[in-house]
Amino acid sequence: MSLDIIEVYKSLTNKSKSLFEESSKYLPFGVSSNYRYFDPYPIYLVKGKGSRVWDVDGNEYIDYILGFGVLEVGHSHPRIVEEVRRAVEDSTILGFEYEKSVELAKIICNRYNVDMVRFSSTGTEATMHAIRIARAYTKRKKIIKFEGHYHGSHDQLLINVNPMRLESRVPTSPGIPEETLSNTLVADWNDYEGFERLVRVHGNDVAAVIMEPVAMNMGLIPADLDFLKGVFDLARDYGFLVIFDEVKTGGKFYSGASGYYGLKPDLVTLGKAIAGGLPLSVVAGRRDVLGVVGPGRVAHGGTFNANPLSVRVAIVTLRDILTEGAFYYMNSLSEELQKGYEDIADDLDIDLIVTKWGPSGMIYFNSKVPKNYKDFIKSDFKSWFTYFYYMVAKGILPMASFNEQWTVSIAHTKEDISKHLEVARDAIKLAKNKKLNLDLFEAF
Ligand SMILES: Cc1ncc(COP(=O)(O)O)c(C=O)c1O
Repeated sequence: MSLDIIEVYKSLTNKSKSLFEESSKYLPFGVSSNYRYFDPYPIYLVKGKGSRVWDVDGNEYIDYILGFGVLEVGHSHPRIVEEVRRAVEDSTILGFEYEKSVELAKIICNRYNVDMVRFSSTGTEATMHAIRIARAYTKRKKIIKFEGHYHGSHDQLLINVNPMRLESRVPTSPGIPEETLSNTLVADWNDYEGFERLVRVHGNDVAAVIMEPVAMNMGLIPADLDFLKGVFDLARDYGFLVIFDEVKTGGKFYSGASGYYGLKPDLVTLGKAIAGGLPLSVVAGRRDVLGVVGPGRVAHGGTFNANPLSVRVAIVTLRDILTEGAFYYMNSLSEELQKGYEDIADDLDIDLIVTKWGPSGMIYFNSKVPKNYKDFIKSDFKSWFTYFYYMVAKGILPMASFNEQWTVSIAHTKEDISKHLEVARDAIKLAKNKKLNLDLFEAF
């Protein structure tokens, strides 16, 4: 198998290439979010249905990206299509508070074990609000985050998200003033001793620690329960809040990572999957903490917050579609993927690690299960990219990037999983024998 996989990719995606050239005149890198770009140019998609999406060249893909972990309901779920149609007929924005936002707030409070919620549209907004609320509540400035964790694209947490060099403080983007990041401390994931050392020095100035309780922006790295409990204890001792950023994890387990671990953080942020593909996010938590929000108190606003379209679809999604049974089903398919990848690794005698949590999982070309970013970055990304292009060229979108993960929806079938694994076997065989020269690529 000595094919040049990039040439195969290019031969299948001529229209995407033209669209990329055209759109690059108007959109930097031809995309609306940096994360959608990959070299030499990304595919441009036209539509999706169930577990499938189609690109402008007419190629069909089995989709395990699902809008970066949004669409566990699958593409274009008939119940959601119907709800959107009905909602539009009653207007998409009403200005003052929408009647049904109360119903959704109750569903979220019960399901995620929180006292109060405020809605917004994106995960970025939710984490931004969460840290402002934490600062106002504690009257302190500093926030601790973990290396490799991503909390959206506002300035304050864009540090050590996915650094290509291992230094203690690496801003993730130009354009962020040093002063803004001076109140953001960075710790290593799953390293209790390191966290404790940081807290001993700064603990009395810390307003909150924010984390993805299962890290899903460096593959998929769950927290060790003992580590989490240690963090909670230190937070209580030093008087700072624990924020679970569940923008991803909130849709991967029926009641999110807090339900899975049996822990009650002070604040929780939700987004992505909870509204079945429509933009809706949440900052939620303890009554006394959320109590600082309000007119003349802590600022929280947004024209599209709790808009009728998102609210109605979120109610249908959480109440009727993403039920406990749905999670059981998605988890069982995801387990098949995990098992299949482990078998492939054994058969091919290759260092390949698989991690999985609910409907999502990740593979690493690595000999050791990564516990934090420093382990993760030691993975062989040349092999990963060879695997990725092969999968895409053969009609599988396995995950969005080397730091993302697969997600299975309720629309995926056992046949989809078998097809995925059949292609993955060849992709990994190719990756083992022939690695891409990443120097040829601009963005990596
Ligand atoms: C854990 C986490 N928090 C926050 C965000 C930001 O969400 P959004 O892209 O909706 O702003 C993301 C996005 O991927 C995320 O993964």
